[in-house]
Amino acid sequence: MPKPAMAGQAGTVHFGDENMKLRDDGLSRRQEMLQDCVDLDALEQNARRVMRPESWVFCDTGADDEITAKENVEAWRKLKLRPRMLRDIVTIDTSVTLLGAQVRTPIMVAPTGRHELFHPGAERETARGATAAGAVYVMSTSGTTTVEQVAAEGSGVPQWFQLYMQPDRDATGALLDRCVKAGFKALVLTVDQPVPGWSPRAYRTPVVPSDKVRSVNMVGQPVARTAYDVARKGVVMFPTTWRDLEWLVKRCAMPVVVKGVLRGDDAKRCVDVGVKGVMVSNHGGRHLDTTVTTADVIAEIATAVGGGAEIYVDGGIRRGTDIVKALALGARAVLLGRPPLWGLSVAGAAGVQMVLDHMHDEMVRAMRLCGAASLADLTRDLVAV
Ligand code: FNR
Repeated sequence: MPKPAMAGQAGTVHFGDENMKLRDDGLSRRQEMLQDCVDLDALEQNARRVMRPESWVFCDTGADDEITAKENVEAWRKLKLRPRMLRDIVTIDTSVTLLGAQVRTPIMVAPTGRHELFHPGAERETARGATAAGAVYVMSTSGTTTVEQVAAEGSGVPQWFQLYMQPDRDATGALLDRCVKAGFKALVLTVDQPVPGWSPRAYRTPVVPSDKVRSVNMVGQPVARTAYDVARKGVVMFPTTWRDLEWLVKRCAMPVVVKGVLRGDDAKRCVDVGVKGVMVSNHGGRHLDTTVTTADVIAEIATAVGGGAEIYVDGGIRRGTDIVKALALGARAVLLGRPPLWGLSVAGAAGVQMVLDHMHDEMVRAMRLCGAASLADLTRDLVAV
């Protein structure tokens, strides 16, 4: 894919720089950069230019040798489509129910922490962008904005909250109650990061903890440290077991989804303890390197779960064809992790919306070319095995 010419090639620009101010023609440089993005590759390049180096590394890196982070993307692209011809594909229906709520698109925003590192409007901008695109936003426990502020940006589009199990169950319970009160519709428990992974790249270009970037929803509002902060190396931060999950399912007034499952037997056990959704994820390859890719295991997990729970998948999804393959192999929806952060960095809410709309458009085009008029038409035979 040829890269488009990018506005303002010279120099690196960060938030607050003079040359980011509105220009005479009323278009900010950032909006111009957004318009230049013909695909996510181009947006990624522009995002890299506007982010501070440490924010870029935090966003982009994978654990250790970054093998899984890279293979996640490649694995979707390697799968081959078997398109159906001569179908009526003029009208396309992309609507889907997610945990009982109807939404216009099966594309969600994955939970990612510390949006203050990417835009001064932080998670509020992300939530606004997701709402404008009609997409579910899964807010991270490690957010730098309060759950109430994020909920205020939902306006009718469901929002979910992602939880890292806190050591103190009372504090966890209190946070869950706040989320319910604020209007969040589901709780996503992340189970694949009991200890943080290690990133040599993030060690060399670290995010320095700052008073301005705080995990405001955690007890005591500690200054946020990224997963790769040396102070956290080897610390068992979120030791979560099946017993904790059973407690959570009983305690939580929202349906519980488990994020970070890579095996059919684990997925089945989640269903047995009352989980309503399973997120197939290797955390974007950020903690354990050299795992299976999510494209490798989505079909196995869909088979193991049967109809027992909804299945979602993330990791390396960058094209509409990736989404079509994921849904054909058994996912009900997909999540994007890094791409919304690229959009957020370049243009705040408008950038997040652009990523989601762009991926939605690519998905619709791929559906038409595959002879699928609705998500129900995306069946396993569309992917060569
Ligand atoms: C993440 N991810 C993540 N997951 C989670 O459950 N809680 C979190 O706080 C975070 N934080 C986070 C920060 C950053 C900067 C990234 C890039 C990712 C993982 C995320 O939800 C998702 O699983 C992956 O990002 C999906 O892969 P792609 O789309 O980034 O390839």
